[in-house]
Amino acid sequence: MSKLRGAMIGVGFFAVNQLNAWHDIEDVEIVAICDRNPERLNKMGDRFAIAARYQDAAEMLAREQLDFVDIATTVSSHRTLVELAADHKMPVICQKPFATSLHDARAVVATCNAAGVPLMVHENFRWQTPILAVKNMLASDRIGRPFWARFSFRTGYDVYAGQPYLAEGDRFIIEDTGIHLLDVARFLLGEVTTIATSVQRINNTIRGEDVATMLMSHAAGATSVVDCSFASRPEFDRFPQTLMEIEGEKGSLRLDRDFSLTVVDSEGTSRADVSPFLLPWAERPWHNIQESVLNIQKHWVQCLRLGTAPATSGHDNLKTIALVEAAYEGAKSGTTVRPGL
Ligand SMILES: NC(=O)c1ccc[n+]([C@@H]2O[C@H](COP(=O)([O-])OP(=O)(O)OC[C@H]3O[C@@H](n4cnc5c(N)ncnc54)[C@H](O)[C@@H]3O)[C@@H](O)[C@H]2O)c1
Repeated sequence: MSKLRGAMIGVGFFAVNQLNAWHDIEDVEIVAICDRNPERLNKMGDRFAIAARYQDAAEMLAREQLDFVDIATTVSSHRTLVELAADHKMPVICQKPFATSLHDARAVVATCNAAGVPLMVHENFRWQTPILAVKNMLASDRIGRPFWARFSFRTGYDVYAGQPYLAEGDRFIIEDTGIHLLDVARFLLGEVTTIATSVQRINNTIRGEDVATMLMSHAAGATSVVDCSFASRPEFDRFPQTLMEIEGEKGSLRLDRDFSLTVVDSEGTSRADVSPFLLPWAERPWHNIQESVLNIQKHWVQCLRLGTAPATSGHDNLKTIALVEAAYEGAKSGTTVRPGL
């Protein structure tokens, strides 16, 4: 079987991880890249030995013979670019946040459905090794039905150095980082029926919120708290880890900063090391995220080969986008909101 021929649109800060991961997947060859910024285009093209380079995505899609396209631009271009891919009947991956509004996200999903085009949102947090270990632990039923959980991401990491645009938007932490935790909460505890949100801006040099606390009710009966902050000064800064605690009817679990998973059940307390694998191209502290990028991209290849829907399909991700929208609505109105679909 010949390799899948892929192309990337947007080769900025994060795309280097995606390109490294594609390079690790034998079944894939990235044959073309596109970026409006010629310097970045040439830097990445040289680094990954990709000869076909374009500044215009439409031109690339018209000229290249491709099996899929991977979009890693920032959110304002996502709708146009995914719709362009759908026009070319091209299976497409789109970075998170998938869209700037639920309205746009729905429109894009409808366009891809009508074109018969597979669409995966690059929502990689749920593909982290420690989070997959928690998912398996819940599935084993050792702690029973979860009734309470906390998903926490608190750091003072200077995220603006690598991604200056994060300081410039009216929205920041919920749309950029909270979105991952909201998706993880859905993944582990099921769909959300209500959400109440409080936001703060501690760093006055940025425009959006850098601290958010969300309280959610899940249809299956659990209550969860999602809290995230880029303004914290913890003793041990574990950027970019998601820490969690889950209490079930028969026990509890805790995912800690040393990647240990502690489980308390009727048998007592046990502890497992659920550290991510340090890929040869990975760099601490990003290695956990970088491994999840490889995991989700392998999943995409499997889905394309088998013709199955990705776990984070556009359709699935509508529920995560709905939570983001409901969180901002609740923060503004001071009310508890039912996420729309
Ligand atoms: N999943 C994660 O863990 C994670 C982490 C960081 C960033 N991200 C996401 O990745 C996406 C990209 O973020 P980034 O920090 O790499 O941004 P970036 O600004 O560094 O890179 C985006 C690149 O896209 C190019 N671009 C924009 N519009 C284009 C267009 N229409 N055609 C061609 N090129 C275009 C820009 O020139 C730029 O080089 C964002 O959606 C961000 O939220 C995800």
